[in-house]
Amino acid sequence: QPTTVADELRSALRTFPDFPKPGINFQDFTPVFAQPRLLRRIAESLAAAYDGEFDRVLAVEARGFVLGTTVAAVADRPLALARKKGKLPGPVFSAAYDLAYGTDTLELQQDAFAPGERVLVVDDVLASGGTLAAAAGLVAECRAQLVGFSVVMSLAGLDGAARLAPARVFSLLPDHA
Ligand code: PRP
Ligand code: MG
Repeated sequence: QPTTVADELRSALRTFPDFPKPGINFQDFTPVFAQPRLLRRIAESLAAAYDGEFDRVLAVEARGFVLGTTVAAVADRPLALARKKGKLPGPVFSAAYDLAYGTDTLELQQDAFAPGERVLVVDDVLASGGTLAAAAGLVAECRAQLVGFSVVMSLAGLDGAARLAPARVFSLLPDHA
C-alpha cells in the first residue's frame, strides 16, 4: 500500500543531538531535500492544507526558503522572502525575535505584498514560535492578511502553536520528538 508522506518524511530525517549547542536536537532535512519526489509531496501537503485560501507564499530564511519555494511552485502562487537582517535592499520592515540558540532579526521589503493579499507563511520547523511570530508581525506591518502557517514539523513540548494562536498552524509532523 502507498506510504503516507509523513511516514516517508520520518524515515528520511536525520537527527543530530547537541547541535549546534548542547541540548538542541538538530533535525537535518538534507536527505529530504535530496529526494525530489518526497520534497514535492511535502510541499503539496503544506499547500493543500490551505487550498484556494492564499494568494502568495512567504518563505522564511534559510531552511524555509527551500520549502516555501517548492510550495509556491506546486501551488502556482508568487513567492516573497523574509530574510535575515541586512540582506534586503530598499525600505524594509524589521522584527527582532529570540531563538532557542540566540537572537535574530527578520526583514521584509515594505512592498512585498499588495494590500489585503492573503499570505501563507512557510518554514521547516516550529520550535518556540519566535521566528514565525516575527514573520506574522511583518505580514501585519505590510497590511497583508495572514492566512496561517505551514511547517514540516512542530517540536514536542515547546507549544509553539499556542504562541501563534489564534493564527492557524498546519504541521505535517505535529509534536515531533
Ligand atoms: C530554525 C528553523 C526555524 C526556527 C524555529 O531556524 O529553521 O526557522 O529555527 O525556531 P523557533 O520556532 O524557536 O523560532 P534558524 O534561524 O535556526 O536557522 P536557518 O537560518 O538555517 O533556518
Ligand atoms: Mg529557520
